[in-house]
Amino acid sequence: MCGIVGYIGKANAASVLIGGLRRLEYRGYDSAGLALLDGDVLHVSRAVGKVANLNESARADWDAELFQRAGTGIAHTRWATHGPPTEANAHPHLDESGHIALVHNGIIENYRSLRARLEKKGHHFHSETDTEVLAHLIGDCDKGDLLQAVRDALHQVEGTYGIAVVSSHEPGRIITARRGSPIVIGVGHGESIIASDATAILAHTQRVIYLDDDDIAVVTANAVDIRDLDNLPVTREIAELGLDAAAAEKGGYAHFMLKEIHEQPDSLANAIRGRLDLQIGSSVLAGMSTSPRELADISRVIMVGCGTSLHAAMVGEYAFGDLADIHAEARQAAEFRYRNPILGNRDLVVAISQSGETADTLAAVREARQKGAFVMSLVNVVGSTIARETGRGVYLHAGPEISVASTKAFTCQVSVLLMMALKLGRGRRFSRDEGLKLAREIEAIPELVRRVIAQDDSIAEIAARYLENEHAFFIGRGPMYPVALEGALKLKEISYIHAEGYHAAELKHGPIALLQEGTPVIVVACEGPAKDKTLGNVEECRARGARILGIITESDHEAEQVMDDFIAIPAAHPLVATIPATVALQLFSYHVARLRGCEIDQPRNLAKSVTVE
Ligand code: F6R
Repeated sequence: MCGIVGYIGKANAASVLIGGLRRLEYRGYDSAGLALLDGDVLHVSRAVGKVANLNESARADWDAELFQRAGTGIAHTRWATHGPPTEANAHPHLDESGHIALVHNGIIENYRSLRARLEKKGHHFHSETDTEVLAHLIGDCDKGDLLQAVRDALHQVEGTYGIAVVSSHEPGRIITARRGSPIVIGVGHGESIIASDATAILAHTQRVIYLDDDDIAVVTANAVDIRDLDNLPVTREIAELGLDAAAAEKGGYAHFMLKEIHEQPDSLANAIRGRLDLQIGSSVLAGMSTSPRELADISRVIMVGCGTSLHAAMVGEYAFGDLADIHAEARQAAEFRYRNPILGNRDLVVAISQSGETADTLAAVREARQKGAFVMSLVNVVGSTIARETGRGVYLHAGPEISVASTKAFTCQVSVLLMMALKLGRGRRFSRDEGLKLAREIEAIPELVRRVIAQDDSIAEIAARYLENEHAFFIGRGPMYPVALEGALKLKEISYIHAEGYHAAELKHGPIALLQEGTPVIVVACEGPAKDKTLGNVEECRARGARILGIITESDHEAEQVMDDFIAIPAAHPLVATIPATVALQLFSYHVARLRGCEIDQPRNLAKSVTVE
């Protein structure tokens, strides 16, 4: 979604800001803008579309010397919410006097009433955005002290914000604040960089400060002074990012998505490394930090997430049920808190999120904590809001996921859920030998995935046969049902083919009416208790002329025979097999989208981190 970058220091601010925005492009956006402070003069440039357009228009608007000279500025990529993606709606927005500029992520919920009040006072608005109202409000509160003005304005605001503000009257500082929308400050030598996402900071420094909700920071080139909304000083530790800048580069791949698919043997190895105990046949997940007695006390596992993370939760539902004999539920995070969930201290609520910033998942975490459940997170982005609010959890260690379509985060989520289920299962019913057997299967996951990725070229050839249809169905049973849902999500989001995932048995309860000669049905029919029934469902589809692509187990000649095309994955425990099966579907979707000429890493209308409900 929207991205913020701010810079103050000795370097050329315009290049740092444009470079930072480029690194945030993956989040999804439709316009961009930049404000530079040149001494006490404020210059603003905005453009619809890509950061490259902004770079061009800023260079056209401003003389080259200004571009080189200015050492302070703020910049933004906007993902339209209030008003379409136009130049007028792009950030930064200015106050009435034109000396204050603001960039903002989040939503000011009471912007209509604030705008009406300000209009009565003579303010003129030039956009349809909620953000412009906040810029005017800060200007209205400004009596010569920008920090005080921001604080006074934020007291009147309802909703969420991550902001960066500059004033041409106070050129030596940037004010930044957050509530519900992340802000991280990079602490360099003689320079500070503000961003909504650490990827924009990586190239400059590894030392960062994460703001908490209701923090306001005054950022200068050499200092960061953080206060709360009542102006009391607060201390926030400097943390080390521990991320390699190269990890956020394409590294020779045509797309981030392809790179991230190919990285999976390594990301999975990182997610699993040191977390299996082959002596006792269990897993060691420091972030679960529970005693065997506490573990034995858990009566239910409830997993919350959205989109791909919800699909991982659904695989987890099978894993906890089948491996740990524990009642488990995957719940759509956006619904969770509105259903007034009945929770207690024997319920383990696991928030699953790649970004750790998804607003719905965060709201579910807060609800679960409020109700006294034992809450933990399974998050990829270190230091993200969900990771910090839950306090305990297991990081995925998947590395930066830049492509909007989630790939490596999903497979790492599932592998960590399997290890959690193993741990709970070993504490309840598994013998050491049973635990050991599963631990060895989990340990082999990176190699299973490597063997699927080795088929990249042949999967591309298969994909070439599925480009023409505008509809496709994905089906599966048992733990392969969420894999089918995930396959359909991947295909629709990057190729724009209308794809639906169904439980294989559900097709005949309605959707089968849509099957015609040649309609693609992608079936996940790997070895396992549900395979024969799934193959029965395949026959129903074949009888109606569907073209069948099967994800099947290697050397399963029976399954091969009923498929028009198939991708074979190595034999594995049915829960473990969800991971290589998903990788096969990721590659299939990727190649379909590539061959259809789609913009794979930033599909239309999508954002990487969904920070609005
Ligand atoms: C799809 C995708 C989304 C995310 C969802 C939740 O490829 O990436 O469906 O899974 O927006 O995001 P996180 O995992 O960051 O909470």
